[in-house]
Amino acid sequence: FNSLPSKRPPVYEGIPYIGGLLKFAQGPWKLLHDGYAKFGDVFTVPVAHKRVTFLIGPDVSPHFFKAADDEMSQSEVYDFNVPTFGRGVVFDVEQKVRTEQFRMFTEALTKNRLKAYVPQFVKEAEEYFAKWGNSGTIDFKDEFSKLVTLTAARTLLGREVREQLFEQVADLLHGLDEGMVPLSVFFPYLPIPVHKKRDRCRKELSEIFAKVIRNRRESGHREEDVLQQFIDARYQNVNGGRALTEEEITGLLIAVLFAGQHTSSITTSWTGIFMAANKEKAFQPAVEEQKAIVAKYGTDLSFEALSDMEVLHRNITEALRMHPPLLLVMRYARKPFSVTTRDGKSYVIPKGDVVAASPNFSHMLPHVFKNPEKYDPDRFAPPREEQNKPYSFIGFGAGRHACIGQNFAYLQIKSIWSVLLRNFEFELLDPVPGADFESMVIGPKACRVKFTRRKLL
Ligand code: HEM
Repeated sequence: FNSLPSKRPPVYEGIPYIGGLLKFAQGPWKLLHDGYAKFGDVFTVPVAHKRVTFLIGPDVSPHFFKAADDEMSQSEVYDFNVPTFGRGVVFDVEQKVRTEQFRMFTEALTKNRLKAYVPQFVKEAEEYFAKWGNSGTIDFKDEFSKLVTLTAARTLLGREVREQLFEQVADLLHGLDEGMVPLSVFFPYLPIPVHKKRDRCRKELSEIFAKVIRNRRESGHREEDVLQQFIDARYQNVNGGRALTEEEITGLLIAVLFAGQHTSSITTSWTGIFMAANKEKAFQPAVEEQKAIVAKYGTDLSFEALSDMEVLHRNITEALRMHPPLLLVMRYARKPFSVTTRDGKSYVIPKGDVVAASPNFSHMLPHVFKNPEKYDPDRFAPPREEQNKPYSFIGFGAGRHACIGQNFAYLQIKSIWSVLLRNFEFELLDPVPGADFESMVIGPKACRVKFTRRKLL
C-alpha cells in the first residue's frame, strides 16, 4: 500500500453535518449532479457520521464491481434491509452463509427454471389484459405494478399465495414497502410509525409463510415456483448441510421480491412510455418483430420465442439505461484502494468509506452513451454497441454482484410487452414524464396513456 499515491478524493464541503443527511434523505440526485459538476469522476461527501465516496463512470468503477467481498463489502451498507428481510438471511448473516443463499437464488433462476416460469408470466399477462375494455385511459405505472405483483406472487411466492392469500399478502408487502423510506437507510430501527407498521407486517408474513411452507413440506405436494426451490435447497459448506428454516425461506422470498418487483414493473412502464412516444422508431419495429416471431414460432410465447426478440430486448435495455430504478449501488471499503480518473488523476479511497456508484447518473455521461438524453435503442445494436466497454451499462449492476434476476426480468417484461404489442395500440396523453426521485426505487411520474384494442396477430 505504501507504493500507492496517497491523495484522497476531493471532499464536497459546505454541506453541514445534518444538511448532508437531509439532502441525502431527500434523494441524492442533486448532490450527485452538483458534485460531479464541481469535481468530476470521484468525490467524497460527508453524510451524517459517514464518508460517502462517489465513483462515476466506467473508468473509476472496475474495483467497485469486481473486488472480493472482503475488500468491497455489501453487508455494512445494505444492513438497513435487515428489519425488512428478517433475521438469518442475506445481510444479517456472515459472508459465507450469504454466498450460499445467493447460490440458492441463482439456482432458483437457472435457464430450466426460467422455462417453467415463462408460461406463468404469459398467463398472468393475458388474464390481466383480457380485463381491459376495448379502449380506455390508464397509467402504465399503476397497471404494471399490479400485474407484476400478481406475477411475482405466482412465480416466486407460489400458487397458495397467488390463489388463496393474495390480497392479504399484497397488503402486508405494501406495509413493508411503506416502511422503507430514505431515512430508513440511516436509521432502520427508528421507532417511527412506518417502521412500527413494517415490523407488524413482517411478523404476520412470517406466520403466513410458515403455514404455507409447512403444508407443502408435509403434503409432499410440489410446484414450479421459487418457493419450491427454496424448500428443496440445502446449504453445502455451512450450517451442516441442512435445509432452510421456514423463517429463512420467508426472508429470502422477501429479499427476492424487494430486488425484483418494483425494479421490473418500473422498467416495464418506461419501456412502454418510450415505445409509445417513439412510434416509428420503437413501437412499430417492435410490432414488426412480433409478426416475424409469430411466423417463426407460432403464437405461443415460449422461452425460445421470447429469447429471440432482439428489438424488444433493446427497447427494454434502453428504457433501463435512461431510467435505472436504483439510483445508487453501494459498498463499504474494508481495505483502501486506488482509482485513476478519466483525466489521469489518481486517488486513494480510504478504508471505512462508503463507496457508491450511480447507474442513473453514469448512464447519462455523454462520453459513454452518445446523446444520452435521446431514446435510441439502436445504440445497443451492432456496430455501435455502446454498452461494450465494461461497466458502461450498469442498470443490472455488474461484476461480482451483478443482478441474479436479469434474465427473469427480461423474460417477464418481454412476456408482458409481447401480449400488449399483439393486441393494443397506445397513445401518450401527457408528455414523457420525468422520474420521481422522491421514492427509494425510482419510477416515472404520472403519465396518462390511451389504449385501443386491435387484433394484429
Ligand atoms: C442485484 C437491478 C430484477 C434479484 C441487482 C443489482 C442491480 C439490480 C442494479 C446490483 C446491486 C448491487 O450491486 O449492489 C435490477 C433491475 C431489475 C432487477 C433494474 C429489473 C428490471 C431482479 C429480479 C430478481 C433480482 C426480477 C429476482 C427474481 C437480484 C438479486 C441481486 C440483484 C438477488 C443481488 C445480487 C448480489 O448481490 O450478488 N439487481 N434487478 N433482480 N438482483 Fe436485480
